[in-house]
Amino acid sequence: MEQEILKVENLSFEYPDTPVLRDVTFTLCKGDFLGIIGENGAGKSTLIKLILKILPIPSGKITLFGEDLSEFKEHCKIGYVSQKASSFNSAFPATVKEVVMANLYSKKGLMRRFTRSDEDKMRAVLDKVGMSEYENKLIGELSGGQQQRVFIARALVSEPELLLMDEPTVGVDARSLQKITDIIEELNGRGMTMIMTNHDTPYLVREANKLLIFCEHGNGEFVRRSDLTMQQLGDIFAGKRVHHHA
Ligand SMILES: Nc1ncnc2c1ncn2[C@@H]1O[C@H](COP(=O)(O)OP(=O)(O)OP(=O)(O)O)[C@@H](O)[C@H]1O
Ligand SMILES: [Mg+2]
Repeated sequence: MEQEILKVENLSFEYPDTPVLRDVTFTLCKGDFLGIIGENGAGKSTLIKLILKILPIPSGKITLFGEDLSEFKEHCKIGYVSQKASSFNSAFPATVKEVVMANLYSKKGLMRRFTRSDEDKMRAVLDKVGMSEYENKLIGELSGGQQQRVFIARALVSEPELLLMDEPTVGVDARSLQKITDIIEELNGRGMTMIMTNHDTPYLVREANKLLIFCEHGNGEFVRRSDLTMQQLGDIFAGKRVHHHA
């Protein structure tokens, strides 16, 4: 049987005076790639923050790795690249190496000693995103796109089972974008479960096997990529509501 990684049931959310999500329901199994599609303000980042417990759940239920979100403690199983992760000023006192390695602390508990193998992991992920030469630079002294690449490396270094990426490649140039999309494809192919928001809809429709499409306010339509008809694909690209067939 497929291993269930994430289950979201009848999730609704509103900020004071702003209803955002209404009755969102979907399930992800190991190796799924969920693409979240929707215009600015649709609620994509809000959904990701609810899964990460950054925001409290007012109504509905989220189950992670078989456990209710309120009971879930194995945070090292989850990786996160936040929207606009890169907004450091040049005085931020940490090097690229430190930013990436810090994400290994959660696995180490109180034994905060890094081994050679930790350093190897750090170098390997920096190499993957093309940032190994910048290891000892201050994060604040990098360009926005370079910082973004470091944050992708940081999320990957702990080898998460579920990786949430909120517009991870904004500001990344074409060559690095190719590198990053290759890494994502490779990791997903090896069974890492992915959730990604991205305004590059054609990319998500191509790469994701499941889609959550916010067309009407708050109401995410969950569809399997393989169930999409040509008509629905046309609607997605036109920003229209997607109708389920009977
Ligand atoms: N902290 C907040 N307080 C009040 N309202 C908020 C807050 N954060 C977001 N909102 C509102 O909630 C709605 C959803 O925001 P959210 O950031 O989830 O959208 P999004 O789909 O991620 O958009 P984008 O494509 O621009 O990233 C928007 O109308 C936004 O103005
Ligand atoms: Mg957002």
